[in-house]
Amino acid sequence: MKKFINAHIYRNSDANEILVKNGVITAIGNNLPAADEVIDLKGRLLVPPYVDAHLHLDYVYTGGQAGAKNDTGTLFEGIARWHDIKDKQTFEDAKARALKGIEEEVSKGVQFIRTHIDVCDPKLTGLKAMLEIREQLKDNVTIQIVAFPQEGMYAYQGGDELVEEALKMGADCVGSIPHFEWAREIGEKSIHRTVELAVKYDKLIDVHCDETDDVMSRFVELLNALAMIEGIGSRTAASHTCSFGSADNAYAFRMMGLFQKSGLNFIALPTENAYLQGRQDSYPKRRGMTRVKEFWESGINVCFGQDSINDPWYPAGNGNLMNILDNGIHMAQTMSLPQLDTCLDLITFNGAKTLNVEVQYGIEVGKPANFLVLDAHSPFEAVRQRADVLASIRNGEYLFKKPEPSYEIELDLFRKTL
Ligand code: FE2
Repeated sequence: MKKFINAHIYRNSDANEILVKNGVITAIGNNLPAADEVIDLKGRLLVPPYVDAHLHLDYVYTGGQAGAKNDTGTLFEGIARWHDIKDKQTFEDAKARALKGIEEEVSKGVQFIRTHIDVCDPKLTGLKAMLEIREQLKDNVTIQIVAFPQEGMYAYQGGDELVEEALKMGADCVGSIPHFEWAREIGEKSIHRTVELAVKYDKLIDVHCDETDDVMSRFVELLNALAMIEGIGSRTAASHTCSFGSADNAYAFRMMGLFQKSGLNFIALPTENAYLQGRQDSYPKRRGMTRVKEFWESGINVCFGQDSINDPWYPAGNGNLMNILDNGIHMAQTMSLPQLDTCLDLITFNGAKTLNVEVQYGIEVGKPANFLVLDAHSPFEAVRQRADVLASIRNGEYLFKKPEPSYEIELDLFRKTL
């Protein structure tokens, strides 16, 4: 039995102690019974693990120095560059790169990852590697796999069949990329197929949806409507929806009401889309961001993700969700004091809701003892300081634990010089 004391528990200001037995939280409160091991958190903030709701683990470390250039810095050149790379990937290489990417994320507090895996590959190499990894790592990190046709369900011949094959092999979610299909009607056909497959195989949905500044790209409308008809809005996510950030307000107003009704989830990728979008703009230049502020303030579920770690679309990225949050709240202009107190939701609870993993997520009695210790004493301080993750705890055990920071000692030395 372990007892964590002097904790500042996110979303629970009444309690400061947590009791853990056999990897499960058995009590939360104050002055809890004694335990074999007592861990004093010294008032630090305890949050549920970070959730990266949108990542491409098959692409990691194929950008920059690895050879893939993207001279235009656009989504479309990224897809063309990846096409050249993927034929050469082997099972071993795909696995090694993905593992390195997961390690980067886990070392920064992520315990839940939804990864898109390109299935426009008759050999399904990336998928096979990821299925093996998902199983091997399941005790340490929860991984969801999206069967994602990067080059189109129809623009890539047989893409829709490969998506179906991937679902049969064990992928968790159906993916698609309607704005990349060769005509609007074909994009719409891909949305119909996405929903059809999700219903047929009882899978979740995550569509790369309207990742463009083209305001005529409105596939989210059809996705939302079909999800609503099937009653699977809360099991469906629309990733990116950049064009919705450029949409006419009258259109957006109507759609917001429908999103509230359906329970659709939205995933914004702040750093990636700030980099990729607006490339055809001169000035003013768009930010590439969907309407995060309006979603959040209207009770529509929205979360943030990393998207890329050094790939043909985006040269940077290191799995640090606090960095993503910091960028995201600036771009979305969601930094009122109440928002700063609660914006950690965008990389924790809201992500868990998107992934439909809420049953096992959150700091509550009866749930797995999964949480992070942040180097901060309040949510506001954590966000303002972009606080480091000092420890990541999974099923009551440390995934990692960093030594106590020595800032105070260093500051004392500094003060003596004043
Ligand atoms: Fe993506």
